[in-house]
Amino acid sequence: MFTAVSSPTHVSELPDDLFEAIATLKRELNAIVLAHYYQDPDIQDIADYIGDSLGLSRKAANTDAEVIVFAGVHFMAETAKILNPNKLVLLPDLDAGCSLADSCPPDAFAAFKAQNPDHLVISYINCTAEIKAMSDIICTSSNAVQIVEQIPTHQPIIFAPDRNLGRYVMEQTGRDLLLWDGSCIVHETFSEKKIVQLKVQHPEAEIIAHPECEPPVLRHADHIGSTTALLQYAQTSHSPAFIVATEPGIIHQMQKEAPHKQFIPAPPMNNCACNECPHMRLNTLEKLYLAMKYRTPEITLPEAIQVAALRPIQRMLKMT
Ligand code: 13P
Ligand code: SF4
Repeated sequence: MFTAVSSPTHVSELPDDLFEAIATLKRELNAIVLAHYYQDPDIQDIADYIGDSLGLSRKAANTDAEVIVFAGVHFMAETAKILNPNKLVLLPDLDAGCSLADSCPPDAFAAFKAQNPDHLVISYINCTAEIKAMSDIICTSSNAVQIVEQIPTHQPIIFAPDRNLGRYVMEQTGRDLLLWDGSCIVHETFSEKKIVQLKVQHPEAEIIAHPECEPPVLRHADHIGSTTALLQYAQTSHSPAFIVATEPGIIHQMQKEAPHKQFIPAPPMNNCACNECPHMRLNTLEKLYLAMKYRTPEITLPEAIQVAALRPIQRMLKMT
């Protein structure tokens, strides 16, 4: 349906109306644009589907589109490719990685797994394809509890790579999990002290937090959940205001869904914008347009990894 062309060397040819140009390319390529909530508002607005990691995986598994343009980070686009080995999967910026995925190098994880051969391996989807290929079941923040609850209680479990989500799952299920010591640079940056100060200034606000946050922050949360769960809670709760302890990109959808409510981003420890994911924010509308125009950068994976990583993802999709 399309032919491969060479990569762009410069960006001087950008059209005046990027929204219109992207819509035209979507039709020409028979492409779908999938975006995570942490993307820039412009990208969210041109996406065909916006969701959390589970929603995005489900959408990638079920799409008829020939080309998947993934406005998210590398592990998400890899998951789409694993589910669609014969489709072209584009990531606007190949450097859009993930500190959490990086905190679990395949060699070290293989050794950890070898030391605990009787353990079932449940890995959070925020990991590389190599780690997925070494896992028994994948989970996301919206189904991790549900998946662990389905495993017989006598079965020991390794949970990787996020120690905070792992601890949260342990609390919710009462199970003892062997945790990999990884974390997300965005969610570990929130300041408990500043959140408590904000709550004093806004006593009407509820604190809503992603389970990747550190325990001192989660202790103050009125509601904990995946990005989709937080968005749904913000819509249905009667509170007029929310202190949002996750990447603030999601506030764009919260404001759209509940325009009369107030959403306050939880502050980081330092006076920086480090509550914004530096990886997610590498994608821009311009890069997305160029990726579609030149059909690159493309996600590719060694076949053995692709095949081995598919099984634990399929198990997750069947289990929840
Ligand atoms: P969810 O969207 O699945 O809640 O994950 C958040 C996240 O950190 C994605 O990188
Ligand atoms: Fe990775 Fe954290 Fe960014 Fe999500 S927010 S992509 S876990 S670094």
